[in-house]
Amino acid sequence: MWKPPERIKYKPQPGPSPTAEEARSALLFSPVKLGPITLEQRTWVPAMVPWRSNEDGFVTDDVLDWYERFAKGQPGAIVIEATGIRDIPSGPLLRIGDDRFIPGLRELADTVRAASDGKTRLLIQVIDFLTIRRRPDPARYFSRFLVITDHHREKLGAFDWPEEQIRTHLAGLPDEDLDAVLTERELEALRVGYRERVTDLHLPHVRDLPQAMPDLFAQAARRAREAGIDGVELHYAHAYTMASFLSATNSRTDGYGGNRENRVRLPLEVFRHVRDVVGTDYCTGCRFLSDECIDGGSTVEDAVYYAVEFAGAGMDFLSLSRGGKFDDAKQPQIGWAAYPYTGRSGYECMPGYISDETGPFGRNVDPVARIKSAVNGSGFTTPLVVIGGIHGFQQAEALLREGRADIIGAARQSLADPDWYLKLRLGKGDQVRVCEYTNYCEGLDTKHKQVTCQLWDRLQLDEPGIKLSVDGRRRLVAPEWKEY
Ligand SMILES: Cc1cc2nc3c(=O)[nH]c(=O)nc-3n(C[C@H](O)[C@H](O)[C@H](O)COP(=O)(O)O)c2cc1C
Ligand code: SF4
Repeated sequence: MWKPPERIKYKPQPGPSPTAEEARSALLFSPVKLGPITLEQRTWVPAMVPWRSNEDGFVTDDVLDWYERFAKGQPGAIVIEATGIRDIPSGPLLRIGDDRFIPGLRELADTVRAASDGKTRLLIQVIDFLTIRRRPDPARYFSRFLVITDHHREKLGAFDWPEEQIRTHLAGLPDEDLDAVLTERELEALRVGYRERVTDLHLPHVRDLPQAMPDLFAQAARRAREAGIDGVELHYAHAYTMASFLSATNSRTDGYGGNRENRVRLPLEVFRHVRDVVGTDYCTGCRFLSDECIDGGSTVEDAVYYAVEFAGAGMDFLSLSRGGKFDDAKQPQIGWAAYPYTGRSGYECMPGYISDETGPFGRNVDPVARIKSAVNGSGFTTPLVVIGGIHGFQQAEALLREGRADIIGAARQSLADPDWYLKLRLGKGDQVRVCEYTNYCEGLDTKHKQVTCQLWDRLQLDEPGIKLSVDGRRRLVAPEWKEY
């Protein structure tokens, strides 16, 4: 992952924890309404893909174990990882694109309800993404994938060459000479891997996204409801389809790109259709970006506009992330696909302990506070979730007391210690396993390996009955917290 050049090293700063009595009067542990549902407390475990599903996209025993472990810490809400709304193979990513996925998801909802003693509300993040291919071996790219066009013939002055000769010639050219012959997208396909964009209007399925997306999302939400999941989070963040519509880089010319009003059109149409299908009594919100953190991308000004639009349309919550784009992702190795958390915008999404003057803790706080003030100033009380480097009671409580956010989310801190909110609430904050923001977990995610935390994945490996990762070296869920 990209690291700020300043390379200033930060240690976690959780600060003092509350006593059990202080926790009882803390805003953090007070209820909050998300439209039709109420969270018992303002604590939130955001979506995290742990690579526990299978090639068929089903809820597996490992998926159940993963969420059961978080549920034992009784947070106000857990958001199930990004779950695909189409019925297409997506590697071991969870899917909700057909009714056959409902029974597994129902078991997951039942598991979380039982493990949290009914105290945790379960949401599911539903996602659509466009095609992305692995970075090809150059020889294969030139022999098989590249479509030879008149553009190449013209650049090479090779109108009468047979196609095979052009392919062989291109394969033999030094890398820098290719810049003059291949188009920008062909160079990208060669050096990074082919990637579709929402602006590819020449591709019929991309052109028709505004027709396809609303019902794909709505049917996914219906299935979530039928599975007994308490609500849906529409994934409008990071590098995926809906975020790409919101992006300032979206130059579609069909009324769904260009200015902000057009860019927010499809996300609003999707939401309205979801509402029509699941009703106003089903919790529906979205996750989007406070800032894309890329050159020419959407900024907090755009996010303010979107947030007011989403709140006005009747969303039940808004969860804010930042960054996480393909645009500045690192070049992957041959055979691997680009990953949107490897560049500067990826750093903004999951800031690590090696940082700049601002540091990794709470980089999203000021933008979210600004967005919240605009939402509230427009007369809406839609709760906002702030996420990013939050790992201590004092910081979390201050954000709520100062009215800078309504709900506190912590992904990696919850991974490091799934009981951390519970420990704080019981006055046992000294027992919290504090995240060090090393991004070891994210490194595993990037390699599509089962995600674990380095602070616990080698502990008590001889415990009877524990499951190990496929490499046999790591436990898959955090050890139980035994002290009460
Ligand atoms: C292993 C891992 C997987 C993630 N998967 C998702 C995901 O499925 N959807 C999503 O919106 N964000 C995902 N994120 C981002 C987190 O939800 C969160 O926004 C980010 O880690 C910053 O919060 P933190 O500082 O509390 O960890 C993931 C993060 C990690 C570490
Ligand atoms: S591996 Fe553990 S300590 Fe390191 S960033 Fe991830 S959750 Fe935090």
